[in-house]
Amino acid sequence: MTVYGSFPGARPRRLRVNPAMRRMVAETRLHPADLILPAFVREGISEPVPIQAMPGVVQHTRDTLRKAAVEAREAGVAGIMLFGVPEDEKKDGLGTAGTDPDGILQVAIRDVKAEVGDELVIMSDLCLDEYTDHGHCGVLAADGRVDNDATLERYAEMAQVQADAGVHVVGPSGMMDGQIGVVRDALDTIGKEDVSILAYTAKYSSAFYGPFREAVGSSLKGDRKTYQQDPANVRESLRELALDLEEGADMVMVKPAGPYLDVLAKVAESVDVPVAAYQISGEYAMVEAAAEKGWINREAAIAETLLGIKRAGASMILTYWATEVAQGLGAAR
Ligand code: PBG
Repeated sequence: MTVYGSFPGARPRRLRVNPAMRRMVAETRLHPADLILPAFVREGISEPVPIQAMPGVVQHTRDTLRKAAVEAREAGVAGIMLFGVPEDEKKDGLGTAGTDPDGILQVAIRDVKAEVGDELVIMSDLCLDEYTDHGHCGVLAADGRVDNDATLERYAEMAQVQADAGVHVVGPSGMMDGQIGVVRDALDTIGKEDVSILAYTAKYSSAFYGPFREAVGSSLKGDRKTYQQDPANVRESLRELALDLEEGADMVMVKPAGPYLDVLAKVAESVDVPVAAYQISGEYAMVEAAAEKGWINREAAIAETLLGIKRAGASMILTYWATEVAQGLGAAR
């Protein structure tokens, strides 16, 4: 490698002289196919419901979800990650609506599949929190703790109903130990060897999930600190990574993205599977709120956050701006 000496002719600014030069020497570029759109679909509504803390994002009706999927595909977005929001009275301790073949997420998977087929990678959140009346990602033991192994049985069933509905990729996001292995077994048992697993490998217990809890009408009181990771840790992520790969993860994810770029970089340099990062609701909300106040340039800030995530090592980015950014990238060409 050439190292710049201290001779007076060394001027890195030469490669920044104009937009054409900067474009040529750019080390990282965003492409629509890097982006995955997370989308919420809510049961029993006839109009989309705006999410207050995420201006521009809505809880979709079944119908508007189909339209959002088509729009994403037309913009060149790679995939869509679906989250179901059931009617309140359908929530219970076991998250039964999450394994009902007619539950909102399963219905939405079928809708989107019917609309875009295999032209968009259809992914589904595999977790109980949207469906439990206590809001935890798993089922509870008699003493109120989240019961890891009882939850795994629920996840196995969820994986099967989601696969039956036609999903391409399941995204187990509950951070239960052993979840990837159990989901892989469950899928293979019913002949769904082709359904892949995007493992939420390093998922931190984050304050930035706040707006998402509104988005899914979460019933959670308390926190998820006994299953999601402590923001203080990075070695722990590599341990989670080793376990997920051993259990059969096809792709791995770091979440949130922005505050965890070091984790993302470490994960990306240690694996040979695709690496995703989830730019979460709070990351979205902060940029939108500051832009609304006129404190930052919205488009430039969005582009910079995404470029930073890609530069750190993610080849797939889940972002609520996916369609808008992909449309802009298309227009820029
Ligand atoms: C759990 C899940 C969460 C998010 C995605 N899947 C919430 C949580 O762990 O509390 C957060 C996504 C976001 O904040 O954008 N099913």
